[in-house]
Amino acid sequence: MKTFWRILAFAKPYHKHFPSYAILAFLAIIFSVVNLALLGPLFDVIFDQMDANELAEKAKKIPFSIDIEYLNSIFYQKLLEVETTYGKSSTLIYVSIVIGISALLSNLFTYISNVIMGIVRANVIQRVRNKVFHNTTGLHLGFFSGERKGDIMSRMTTDIQEIEVTVVSGIKVLFREPATIIVYLGFLFIQSVPLTLFTLIFFAIMGVVISEIVKRLKKKAIQSQESLGRILNTLDEVFSGMRIIKAFNAKKYINDHFEAETSIYRKVNISMAKKNELASPVSQFLGILVVATILVYGGTLVLENESELSGSGLLVYIAVFSQIITPVKSLSQSISNIQRGIVSADRVFRLVDEQPKITNKEKALVKTSIEESIEFQNVGFSYEKEPVLSDINVKIKKGQTVALVGSSGGGKSTMADLIPRFYDATSGQITIDGVPIRDIEIDSLRGLLGIVTQESILFNDTVFKNIAFARPEAKEEEVIQAAKIANAHDFIMELENGYHTNIGERGSKLSGGQRQRLSIARAVMKNPPILILDEATSALDSESEKLVQEAITNLMKNRTSVVIAHRLSTIQHADEILVIQKGSIIERGTHNELLDQNGVYTKLISMQTV
Ligand SMILES: Nc1ncnc2c1ncn2[C@@H]1O[C@H](COP(=O)(O)OP(=O)(O)OP(=O)(O)O)[C@@H](O)[C@H]1O
Ligand SMILES: [Mg+2]
Repeated sequence: MKTFWRILAFAKPYHKHFPSYAILAFLAIIFSVVNLALLGPLFDVIFDQMDANELAEKAKKIPFSIDIEYLNSIFYQKLLEVETTYGKSSTLIYVSIVIGISALLSNLFTYISNVIMGIVRANVIQRVRNKVFHNTTGLHLGFFSGERKGDIMSRMTTDIQEIEVTVVSGIKVLFREPATIIVYLGFLFIQSVPLTLFTLIFFAIMGVVISEIVKRLKKKAIQSQESLGRILNTLDEVFSGMRIIKAFNAKKYINDHFEAETSIYRKVNISMAKKNELASPVSQFLGILVVATILVYGGTLVLENESELSGSGLLVYIAVFSQIITPVKSLSQSISNIQRGIVSADRVFRLVDEQPKITNKEKALVKTSIEESIEFQNVGFSYEKEPVLSDINVKIKKGQTVALVGSSGGGKSTMADLIPRFYDATSGQITIDGVPIRDIEIDSLRGLLGIVTQESILFNDTVFKNIAFARPEAKEEEVIQAAKIANAHDFIMELENGYHTNIGERGSKLSGGQRQRLSIARAVMKNPPILILDEATSALDSESEKLVQEAITNLMKNRTSVVIAHRLSTIQHADEILVIQKGSIIERGTHNELLDQNGVYTKLISMQTV
């Protein structure tokens, strides 16, 4: 229930729409009842039921007031007038026209109130979606490897769609359907008390049956959404890894995997359909059963002439009763929608409630430059239980370059990830100019850093926008200057629209080396005092590598850099080289010092020069 109110709370800013919605919806209901009630006089005229005395009695003039009685008397005065002057067939036309007008009004009001509801719904969903997105993008990096991407995506799409249904159902459940039912029931009570008490028992039975179905539905809804999340996850993996899948002929593996998941989804949904579709026929059947019983019971009342109920009264009664089934069904449908929506909303709100693990300290320091050094002091780190880094001590003086080398999985990228606080060190600390980075305001810390990774992360936009990524207000000359430094200007000019060429999803229209030079241009553009380069050249052929290497050398001028490299030729001039194995620094020194030691580094070098 708490979740339900939380969804509706998103509608708060739109509360000014509620009164007009309520009034319009209420008018629509009233006119739909009037519509049916008018069938009474219609039948009376057709079946010649109403004698002159009775009509005169109903058409009695009463003082003006805004209530049904007054309107009723006006209606009958007119009716009497028409009947005495023009005869019965004109009376028929008169009643039919009034029915037509009232039907028109009822539907017009329904339409306008539904439009208002549509506006509120669209706004609420936008707010929910934006809020979830903002919160999710603010989360620490670790969250995204732990939580499945597909799962997050399914929460952002289908689950939010379910919430959308809930918003509409919520408004219906809270106002529209109860109001309709009350007005209709009130009318029925006026017609006949015993008959109406009888129908109420029917509703109670229907309620119990439906709620039982709904309860079972909820469990299946959870399974269904989870399965869909896994399907989206597979889709994401497959489409981004299409090249590999084709290269390895892994279609069968992928297809089997996908089919297994869709098969789970199918089973859950069949089971859900069985329950979902049960609600409607059950209530339909019960409804007809009751109408039949009303006919018997009500018919007896009419025939025995013991109650106020007339023949036409019974017909109107059944007409109104048949109408009341619709809002009751809609009410039960809405409640079951809300159940499903609450399941989805819980999943979505878990994203909203997730707290970022990496946060600013209170009164965090804003740092805009590096004056002395970056220092790792006894740094240890583990993603889960296994330690990935231990006892890392290194001082990188301003303007110096420190290179990290070593076998795969040693912990080099992890070490680099600690500097921008993608993760926090588990023990020890990292400082910049003696200030622990935990005390530095995160945005300003990351503002000091330029990061170029092996995987060039580009966005489906123009070359210009991708380079000016961090500074959308940048001038064209600045972007071109950055591209020149990054050795990217020439190939950009050869593109169809130069700097305004769209580079495709994740930069797919460019070569690997071109993508990297764009990433480097982006880093140049940011002009950060500290650089982190993670294997920026390992995926390239030698021609391309030369261009990228030049670009990197340009970029590194006058900056403090941490460089991770597999190709040792690229880091020979580093001020210090750290050989990292199994999370520890096992050798350190300059290129020549390390060669003198004749240890692991020498082995690595000789392997690469063979
Ligand atoms: N997000 C993660 N969650 C859990 N473990 C991780 C995560 N990322 C890396 N690891 C583990 O941490 C260890 C160090 O990984 P890291 O990426 O730092 O190695 P690396 O030295 O950069 O290797 P490479 O040279 O292959 O890039 C590895 O054993 C890896 O399995
Ligand atoms: Mg790495």
